[in-house]
Amino acid sequence: MKQPVILNDVATLRALVATWRRAGDTIALVPTMGALHAGHVSLGKIARARARRVIYSIFVNPTQFAPHEDFAAYPRTFEDDIARLAALGADAVFAPTSAIIYPAGFVTTVSLKGPAIAELEDRFRPTHFAGVATIVSKLLIQCMPDIAIFGEKDFQQLAVIRQMARDLDLPTQIEGAPTLREADGLAISSRNVYLSAAERAAAPLLHRVMREAASAIAAGENPSGVLDYSRQRIERGGFSLDYLDWRDAATMGAPAPDRPSRLLVAARIGTTRLIDNLAVPAGEKA
Ligand code: PAF
Repeated sequence: MKQPVILNDVATLRALVATWRRAGDTIALVPTMGALHAGHVSLGKIARARARRVIYSIFVNPTQFAPHEDFAAYPRTFEDDIARLAALGADAVFAPTSAIIYPAGFVTTVSLKGPAIAELEDRFRPTHFAGVATIVSKLLIQCMPDIAIFGEKDFQQLAVIRQMARDLDLPTQIEGAPTLREADGLAISSRNVYLSAAERAAAPLLHRVMREAASAIAAGENPSGVLDYSRQRIERGGFSLDYLDWRDAATMGAPAPDRPSRLLVAARIGTTRLIDNLAVPAGEKA
């Protein structure tokens, strides 16, 4: 089995990318925070189909976690991740330390508006997207891939990254990959390991409620009535709801006729916060 090259610093990453470029190879980047699961594998398969070379980055980015969040406890499974990536045929893994990404004296962040200030994730995690945008822009500039793949599960994040890449003329195509789900509909996430057995059994309710809400809105039912009823169902199911809303899929603003739209949800069960989203089929009345 081919082992991926493990790179820890930017100069070595750039040298390898330059070698591949000279050979005429196209390059895909799959940015991750490790704790790889089937969802990440599916991103890698898309990357492999789209480019000759596939680089995964593994970096648990401290700047996208608020002080009270799970940065210290975030699952770190580097050895297993590398074994998984070897089985997948990844060409390289970029696994920098915090000191490489944020050396002493680092003060710059990407400032965002538009889909980053939509009163969704940003309301509950006000510093999160600046951290995401800063690390993603750094990774894209360090690696200069032709394409970078991000999971649709973090849908607002994907909208923010698309907008940022467009605004900053980053020469990388940003591609979203469909959310992978367990058989009962729960979106696969690194944070699912935090769920107790009872919470795990309750968790698929989120997807079930969103599926029914998306169909009801698409069928022309009153969206605010559908959303209110869906919010109640989620809370009655044992969740504490942060938000459930229906938004334009690109701007994260109010949905508009004839444009793709999305339901987005975040809810806490026990100590675990789950997020998910679902496209509302065409035919919806905005
Ligand atoms: O989605 C994630 O895993 C992270 O937010 C990302 C894009 C790798 C940036 O740290």
